[in-house]
Amino acid sequence: MPKEAVVRPRKSAPRHVIAIADLTIEQLRDLLDLATELKAEWTRGGNAPALNGRVLAMLFERPSLRTRVSFEVATRQLGGHAMYLAPQEVDIGHRETVADAARVLSRYVNGIVIRTSTHQRVQELANWATVPVINGLSDLEHPCQALADLLTIREHRGALRGLHLAYIGDGNNVCHSLALAACKSGMHMVIGSPIGYWPNESIVNLARESAQATGGSITVITDPVAAIRGADVIYTDTWISMGQERESAERRSAFAGFQVNANLIRVAGDAVVMHCLPAHRGEEITDEVIDGPDSIVFDQAENRLHAQKAVLHTLMGG
Ligand code: CP
Ligand code: NVA
Repeated sequence: MPKEAVVRPRKSAPRHVIAIADLTIEQLRDLLDLATELKAEWTRGGNAPALNGRVLAMLFERPSLRTRVSFEVATRQLGGHAMYLAPQEVDIGHRETVADAARVLSRYVNGIVIRTSTHQRVQELANWATVPVINGLSDLEHPCQALADLLTIREHRGALRGLHLAYIGDGNNVCHSLALAACKSGMHMVIGSPIGYWPNESIVNLARESAQATGGSITVITDPVAAIRGADVIYTDTWISMGQERESAERRSAFAGFQVNANLIRVAGDAVVMHCLPAHRGEEITDEVIDGPDSIVFDQAENRLHAQKAVLHTLMGG
């Protein structure tokens, strides 16, 4: 393992990473560049222990495979310690207030990851915590996913600027963070989604503002075929996010024409296919596509590790 970090602390680093909406274009680019450096450093034989024994608390109120495991491993590979806190143990909002939990945890640990139902809870935790807070998924955003997504696209397609990214399906948390990150990176995002399931208007407006500065664009339409035509990257996510299980039947029916299958991806021509996982095979994506030659979903899943190292390094390292 190298003794000295090859990476340097960034200027004007964010205090928290709770939303792509809150990151400047430069902060986003710095995180992606740092992720690339840390991935290269890891590939060369290991990361320098930039976290230096610091402790990350991981407060999860929802299930997780990728986020939980990649944060734990990333923390360990950077020389820190991660502590998983299950919902029944902490039970914030019931057993004690978010504000109390934030202030107590801040006396013990050096950073907090939270996965929870409402974005407002993530913000409240960040308002009260005196240590950095990382959003590990809320109903509004999934910023760490978007960082890994852009890192993966950049690896497979070279520069991000000017690429056509087609998102097919639900205008959900993953779609929000991806749209904001894509527009901050000069990409052209086209979202194909049924009426009633479009991304939040406020997020689309924010993304459009960023796109004006970077030369990117964002369009939301109801036709998945038109959305995918000429795409360099095709992305989808579940039609039924965590907490929406009661709407399963109506959602399956609303999204029936939005499956990413072999017929649909043929329209794009030469595109890579992405999915944040977990996939509901046979619903939003077919086996043939997710296991096919254009799929980069496992590179994408791996990059959660590298992208989050950049987040940990920036917020808690040095
Ligand atoms: N993509 C993602 O966040 O996966 P998990 O829900 O398994 O963490
Ligand atoms: N949109 C999905 C993402 C899971 C990683 C959800 O919120 O459940």
